[in-house]
Amino acid sequence: MRKKLIAGNWKMHLVPVEARALVEGIRHEIDRDAATLAKDRDVLVAPPGILIPAVAQALAGSSILLGAQNMHYEDKGAFTGELSAPMLQAYGVTHVIVGHSERRHIFHETDELINRKVLAALHHRMTPILCVGETQDEHDGGRALDIVLGQLQRGLKGVGDDHVTTVAIAYEPVWAIGTGRTATPEQAEVIHGAIRGAILERCGRERADAVRIIYGGSVNDESVDSLVSRPDIDGALVGGASLKADSFARIVRARTR
Ligand code: PGA
Repeated sequence: MRKKLIAGNWKMHLVPVEARALVEGIRHEIDRDAATLAKDRDVLVAPPGILIPAVAQALAGSSILLGAQNMHYEDKGAFTGELSAPMLQAYGVTHVIVGHSERRHIFHETDELINRKVLAALHHRMTPILCVGETQDEHDGGRALDIVLGQLQRGLKGVGDDHVTTVAIAYEPVWAIGTGRTATPEQAEVIHGAIRGAILERCGRERADAVRIIYGGSVNDESVDSLVSRPDIDGALVGGASLKADSFARIVRARTR
């Protein structure tokens, strides 16, 4: 059975004292049930890069995983403003969000760049969370599947069959991010099924059954149950609602079937 993945993407929010308080708040809510929750779900927070050391410290002794929101594909070099996999790993980062729509649209990241980051993460035995998703226009034009499957194929270029299941795919329709308009579970399920179908074609049933495909876009404590209880929706990537301990803790406790 696939373990669910509930991930909080803090985006560009919080300063260290707030980040520590948020982690403490989340731990206060979920630590006592950590063993039970850990049976069928992983929990992750992805703070801004500069907060990673403080958050790593605040997470000590917890089963909550630490993720990054982005990284460079080279290990080191003249890349002003960037962070590399070894730097992140030095603080216990195990997961990295790659190709988030804000990286694609605001910072003009291409599928080729995103693919390099996916390969670099895998090379360093990190789990890339590869984000794909169509814009409002693409959605309205009936092109969602084309866009998503194209991004998926290009994002996974050169990833060996053995490594495909290390990648977590996040379907994040751009029109649902930060808008309060969640995709319905039915809408999401169609795309998730198609993504799994593409993995099946590429590397067979066993791997398609193992790969995690999570949903993101205005997930909150009310919508999460109906999404992650769907068979093809293996968790959630949560932005806004991950910044409050009580709402994120409630999301972490989502009903998964
Ligand atoms: P949101 O963001 O939950 O605030 O819509 C999700 C994301 O961008 O990952």
